[in-house]
Amino acid sequence: MSTANTVTGIVGQGAIGLLAASQLALHQCPFHLLLRRQQHHNLVLNFRQQQQDFPLLLNCQRPQQLITLLLLPVKAFSVQSALQQWLPLCTADADIVLCHNGMGTLVAAQQQLQPGQKLWFASTTHGALKSGPHQLEHTGIGGTVLGPVNDIARITPAPFTLINAALGPLEVVSDILPVLWQKLAINAVINPLTALLMVKNGELTKPQHRTQIDQLVAEFCQVARTQGQQFDAHSLTQRVLAVAANTAGNYSSMQQDRALQRPDELEFITGFLLNAAAEAGLTLPAHQQLYRQLREVKPA
Ligand SMILES: NC(=O)c1ccc[n+]([C@@H]2O[C@H](COP(=O)([O-])OP(=O)(O)OC[C@H]3O[C@@H](n4cnc5c(N)ncnc54)[C@H](OP(=O)(O)O)[C@@H]3O)[C@@H](O)[C@H]2O)c1
Repeated sequence: MSTANTVTGIVGQGAIGLLAASQLALHQCPFHLLLRRQQHHNLVLNFRQQQQDFPLLLNCQRPQQLITLLLLPVKAFSVQSALQQWLPLCTADADIVLCHNGMGTLVAAQQQLQPGQKLWFASTTHGALKSGPHQLEHTGIGGTVLGPVNDIARITPAPFTLINAALGPLEVVSDILPVLWQKLAINAVINPLTALLMVKNGELTKPQHRTQIDQLVAEFCQVARTQGQQFDAHSLTQRVLAVAANTAGNYSSMQQDRALQRPDELEFITGFLLNAAAEAGLTLPAHQQLYRQLREVKPA
C-alpha cells in the first residue's frame, strides 16, 4: 500500500499513542496527533528507547484534509466517544484502527462507522510509560497483530506500512478474535489480581497465588469455549505465569489506574467475561469474586 496520500491521525497523547507517534516521527512518516483541545504548539517529547533519548517535536495540528487512517490507542471505555469525536474528520473509506486492552467495543464501533469505512483491530504487546507530559519511555519492545473487524476491511489490503512503522513488527491475520481472546486470558488474570493486591506482575509467580490463578484460567477456558475459542488450561496457565515473570518489574495498567484512582478497564476485561458467561448460562465464581472485590474495596 502506498502511503503517499495517507493522512494519518492518532487519537490522544496517551502512552501508546505517543509511542506510535514517536515511531512514526523517527521513520519520518507524517501524522497528526488529535488532542481533545486544539493546540497552537506542537508537542515536545523526550522519547526514551533502549537507553537512548530522542528529543522529538510531534505534530498536533489538525489536518487540512480528511483523515484516511485513524489510529485510536485509547482505553476501551473511551472508544465510543473518541469515534464520535473523530470520525467526522475521516474520509468515507478511511481505515479505522482500534488498539486497546479488553473486549466488548467492536459491535458498537461497527455501528458508528459509515458503510465504506474499514474497521481494524491492532493488538499490541509493546509497553510504554508516560512519566510526565513530555516524557515517554518504551518500556517493553513487543510487536502488534492487526486484523480486520468488519466485512469491508476483510476484502481490502491492510494499512500495513503505517501501522508497521508505528507499532511493528506487524503481523496481519485474517481473524483477530483468537488474538483478542488470548490477550484477554492474560489480562483477565494479571490485571485484576495485581490491581487488587497492589503488586507488580512478578508477585503472581509466587506459589501462594497458584490456586487462584488455576481457577481463573479454568473458568476463562469454559467461557472461551462457548464462543468457539479453544484453550488448554495447563498451557494457558504457563503462558500467564511466563508473562508475569517476563514483566516481573512492571505494574499492570489496571494496578496503575487503581493506584492513581483513574477509571480502569475492568468492565471490558472481567466484566466482558462475566457477561459472556451469563449469556451462556455459566457462573464464574473466581472472576465474580475478583470483580466484586475490585468494585467494593478502595485501594490502600
Ligand atoms: N501503556 C501500555 O504499555 C499498554 C500496552 C498494551 C496495551 N495498552 C492498552 O492500550 C490502550 C491505551 O493505553 P495507554 O496506556 O496509551 O492509555 P492512556 O495513557 O490512558 O491513553 C489514552 C489517551 O487517549 C486520550 N483520549 C481518550 N479519548 C480521547 C478523545 N476523544 N480525543 C483525544 N484524546 C482522547 C486520553 O486522554 P484523557 O486522559 O484526557 O482521557 C489519554 O491521553 C489501553 O486499552 C491499554 O490497556 C497499553
